[in-house]
Amino acid sequence: MNRKVTVVGGAGNVGATVARAVANKELADVVIIDIAAQKAAGIALDILQACPVEGSSSKVIGTDDYAASANSDVVVITSGVPRKPGMSRDDLLHINHKIMQQVTEQVIKHSPDCIIVPVANPLDAMSQAVYRLSGFARERVIGMAGVLDSARMRAFIAMEMDVSVDNVHAFVLGGHGDTMVPLPRYSTVAGIPITDLLPKDRIDAIARRTADGGAEITKLVGTSAWYAPGSSAAEMVEAILKDKKKIMPCSVFLRGEYGINDLFVGVPVKLGAKGVEQIIEITLTDDERAALQRSAGAVRELVNVIGV
Ligand code: NAI
Ligand code: 2OP
Repeated sequence: MNRKVTVVGGAGNVGATVARAVANKELADVVIIDIAAQKAAGIALDILQACPVEGSSSKVIGTDDYAASANSDVVVITSGVPRKPGMSRDDLLHINHKIMQQVTEQVIKHSPDCIIVPVANPLDAMSQAVYRLSGFARERVIGMAGVLDSARMRAFIAMEMDVSVDNVHAFVLGGHGDTMVPLPRYSTVAGIPITDLLPKDRIDAIARRTADGGAEITKLVGTSAWYAPGSSAAEMVEAILKDKKKIMPCSVFLRGEYGINDLFVGVPVKLGAKGVEQIIEITLTDDERAALQRSAGAVRELVNVIGV
């Protein structure tokens, strides 16, 4: 194939899921980079051996040598420690920042023209660290969180209303943390806002469960989720490689949009071959705007701690 996607941390749960989705969909050849080199090689071999069954000609390799990742089109960074039950995403700040420092240096050295999709937590702060360290234009560093949070909200709305998720659209903005901002007014079933379809207490419960979505799974499984996160990152990769111009909520560096400056926060963007091709400003009520500002404030506290 003439496209290459590298997944750094791809021997781990989320990274392996991204790698598998990219290979299964034959979006590109896949390079798994991980400090666990032997495991990376094994996971890559397993995914490669699934390709004949999936009808995909993607090549998949795994290594700890970044030379194999040279000239990647997209690099997804899932290397990082996941949270354990009782931990918040923010508890991962310092250890994952150190990992971002090591990884970003290698990524930009070998793939200076790539688009980077950070996934490690705390997502918005890690995306900002990668952005600062890479020196890339803001269009080429795009954090994955809103796609996942919106998918969770879609699943909960579909469960509540007993309808196909195909009919459900949802938007979750803000930082990927407890202060994230589910937007019921912009969440629809067959085009009808859920605010016209469900009582307030049910909508509030869906919004709460969405914000707690990561913690709910961490408590059940003992580590954080990987299937939905992996699928979400792969959906972003697909939108970029296929130049789909797809509108999805992603964490991007804002310069005044939504009244937020110099900070990664989740907002709707148009994703295509150039990365972020447009930041879309939707109209918010005073309450929604205040919630977004609160969420941005929580991200700002973290980026200030690590000075990025
Ligand atoms: P995991 O522990 O299964 O995988 C992490 C992988 O990173 C491991 O294979 C490890 O060997 C590798 N790694 C660690 N340091 C490295 C380095 N310096 N260079 C290369 N590889 C390195 O963890 P999991 O569950 O895959 O989660 C990964 C990260 O993604 C965590 O920080 C987690 O919190 C985050 N996450 C973010 C989500 C989001 O919505 N943004 C959703 C789910 C997880
Ligand atoms: C999640 O939301 C922990 O960020 C991870 O599942």
